[in-house]
Amino acid sequence: MRRMKKVVSVVCCICLILGLAGCASSGGGGTVGHKRIIRISHAQSESHPEHLGLLAFKEYVEENLGDKYEVQIFPNEILGAAQRAIELTQTGAIDFVVAGTANLETFADIYEIFSMPYLFDSVEAYHETMMDTDYMEQIYESTDEAGFRVMTWYNAGTRSFYAKTPIATPEDLKGKKIRVQQSPASVAMMQAFGAAASPMSFGEVYTAIQQGVIDGAENNELALTNNKHGEVAKYYAYNNHQMVPDMLIANLKFLNGLSDEEREIFVEAARISTEVEMENWDDQVAEAKRVAEEDMGVEFTEVDIEAFKEKVLPLHEEMLKENPKIQEFYDHIQEINQNVEKTSDQSEKEAEEK
Ligand code: GCU
Repeated sequence: MRRMKKVVSVVCCICLILGLAGCASSGGGGTVGHKRIIRISHAQSESHPEHLGLLAFKEYVEENLGDKYEVQIFPNEILGAAQRAIELTQTGAIDFVVAGTANLETFADIYEIFSMPYLFDSVEAYHETMMDTDYMEQIYESTDEAGFRVMTWYNAGTRSFYAKTPIATPEDLKGKKIRVQQSPASVAMMQAFGAAASPMSFGEVYTAIQQGVIDGAENNELALTNNKHGEVAKYYAYNNHQMVPDMLIANLKFLNGLSDEEREIFVEAARISTEVEMENWDDQVAEAKRVAEEDMGVEFTEVDIEAFKEKVLPLHEEMLKENPKIQEFYDHIQEINQNVEKTSDQSEKEAEEK
C-alpha cells in the first residue's frame, strides 16, 4: 500500500515538476483567469502547525489581494524534498518553500550556526533570538545572492534521538546509524556523538528505519505521529541537542516585483503565519506525545543531558574557527542565553521570597 502511494506521489510529482519547469521559464507560478497563482511547498502533513500557519498566510493574502493572487499550498513534499523544493524556489518555478535551516547551509553558511548542538540554553532564549525580527533580517538577507530571501521563521521544537533500541547514554549511540538532515554541520555533530551519520531527506526516514537501513533518527515529537516514525522507532530520549528553526523562503524576484503596498501585505501575512504556527505548537506536541505513547507504544525517557553535551561542546570552538562568519551571531545568542538565565533566576528568587 505504502509502495503504491509512493508510486502515485512520484508520478504526481513528475507531472507537477514538468508543469512547474514551464512556469519558471514564463517567470512565476502561472495564472488562472486573471489571477497569479502563488505556490508554496512544505514537507509536513495538513494538520501540522506549519500548514495551519500557511493557511492563515493564504487567507490574509487573498483577503487583501484576492483579485490578483491565489495562494496554493503543497504539503507532504509533493513538490519535492527540501533541497529540491529550495532549488525550485531559487529558479522561480515556485514562489515559496518552508525548509529547515539545515537545508540552507549550502546556500549561505551563516545558517550552520543553527545546527550547532546545544547552541540555545533554553527554549526562551531560542524564541527570543528568533523573534527579534530586526536582528534576524541581516541573516535572512544572506541568501539574496542565491536568489531567495527568508520571510519568517517557524518553531520546529527541540530535536532529540529516537531509535529502535533505547538510547540512555551517548555510549548507546556508538556504531549506530542515525539519520541526519542534509547538512554538513549535522553530520559533524553526529560524528562527535560517536554515531554514523546517514544524511537523507525527511520523506525517506520512515522506510529507512523500517527496513533497517538506519537504526534511528532525531527530531521533535511531531515526527513520531505526523510522519508516523513512532510506528517503527519505539524509544525517544530527551537529550535535546538542537533547536533548528524552519524558514518560510521566498523567490527574491517575486518579492522584488511586488509594489510596496503588496509587499507589506505579504510581510504581514508571513508574520501572522508564524503567530498561528506558534499558537498551535505546544498543544500539538503534547498531543503527539500522548498518541505516540498510548497508541504507538513509544517510550519517552529523560536522560542525563550533560553527558550528551560533553561529547559535542568542543564543536562550538571548531565551528567558530572554521566559519568566522558565525562568531557575531554566536556572541549575540550567548548574550541572550545569559540574560534569559538571569531573569529566570531572579523570578525564582522573588517567588521564594513571597
Ligand atoms: C522537522 C522540520 C523540517 C525538517 C525535518 C527533518 O520536521 O520541521 O523542516 O525537514 O524536521 O528532519 O528533515
